[in-house]
Amino acid sequence: MSEAVRVAPPSAFLPVADTGMLWDFWYPAVPSAEIRGRGLATAMLLEVPLVLGRDGQGRAFAMRDNCPHRGMPLSHGRFDGKTVECSYHGWRFDACTGQCVEIPSLSKGDRLKAERIFAGHYPCAERDGYVWVFMPDPNRRDTPRHDAEREPAIPELPVFSETYRITRLSCMLPCHVDHGIIGLMDPAHGPFVHQAWWWRSRRSIHEKEKQFEPIPGGFRMSAHAPSSNSAPYKLLRVSGQPIVTTIDFVLPNMRLEQIRSGHLWFSSRATVTPVRRDLCRIDFVAAWNLFSGVPLVVPIFRFFAKRFLRQDQQTMIEQAEGLKHNPNLMLIDDADRPAKWYFQLKAALLESRRTGTAMKHPMDGPVTLRWRS
Ligand code: FES
Ligand SMILES: [Fe+2]
Repeated sequence: MSEAVRVAPPSAFLPVADTGMLWDFWYPAVPSAEIRGRGLATAMLLEVPLVLGRDGQGRAFAMRDNCPHRGMPLSHGRFDGKTVECSYHGWRFDACTGQCVEIPSLSKGDRLKAERIFAGHYPCAERDGYVWVFMPDPNRRDTPRHDAEREPAIPELPVFSETYRITRLSCMLPCHVDHGIIGLMDPAHGPFVHQAWWWRSRRSIHEKEKQFEPIPGGFRMSAHAPSSNSAPYKLLRVSGQPIVTTIDFVLPNMRLEQIRSGHLWFSSRATVTPVRRDLCRIDFVAAWNLFSGVPLVVPIFRFFAKRFLRQDQQTMIEQAEGLKHNPNLMLIDDADRPAKWYFQLKAALLESRRTGTAMKHPMDGPVTLRWRS
């Protein structure tokens, strides 16, 4: 007769340390194209190692990449389309539920019930060419871990016609997710970091005034005509209609931009996903119906977007050097106000979760910000 004895590392009974990352949200884990056939892919979200694959029906699944027996990464094991077999002692787990279905070492008289053992398992869905994984708060013990009611809607890029082009890019940033996010919304770095003849230069710096308004879980740069000093926006003039753009930030990590002009549109989303406390990843997806018949639009767009992301990445690599020494930081008005809102939104969300009350939005109405860029 045998019994499963839990052997946990000394820290396992302590709450998961607060690393400033937001649980109970969906995060993009890997591009959909990375999991094919019976292959397994790995990812890390909020310091949780994951193994991902597709079942026989092509549905994506995500499990914690640790065998509940002795911690072997399950990604070293084999997947037969239904169960994942650990490479160490051959325990097998149902890929869609995480339930253990076989422990090969058990003898006939063994009373251990394999089916009571589960590998960590996470809700998983595909949108816009990414596999999204819902990361429930590991410190929450009051509700079952898979509580669909608590899961917010799975994010999806808004599109405005049946046919369109779509492209995706990503890059790693060696910093905490907060720095990645405030960098994403920072209106003042453009003329310094993204200098280019086709975009903007220091000489093009001029005073800007934009209106912002609160939206659920975030804020919106209200509908406006896009910046006149940026060449790509000028291309949208072809419709002959006014050009209107909105930029939203929504917790936990999302910047959505839409530009519309008559029937023409461009829609993009950048998410900054926490990988570890010192590492995050930007995933950028853009879709549009402009120039639909024109060849090379996607490669040209990717060339410029990559260059843009690389400039941000290089800046954050350099900034991370400075942040290592924990310097004092300051956020100024109005150029850093979006960053301040981000921190206030995050605090308000955590407070509402702590108290079980509705989230109190830090903005109580529209605000006009002015800065030069
Ligand atoms: S560690 Fe996985 S079966 Fe033993
Ligand atoms: Fe940038």
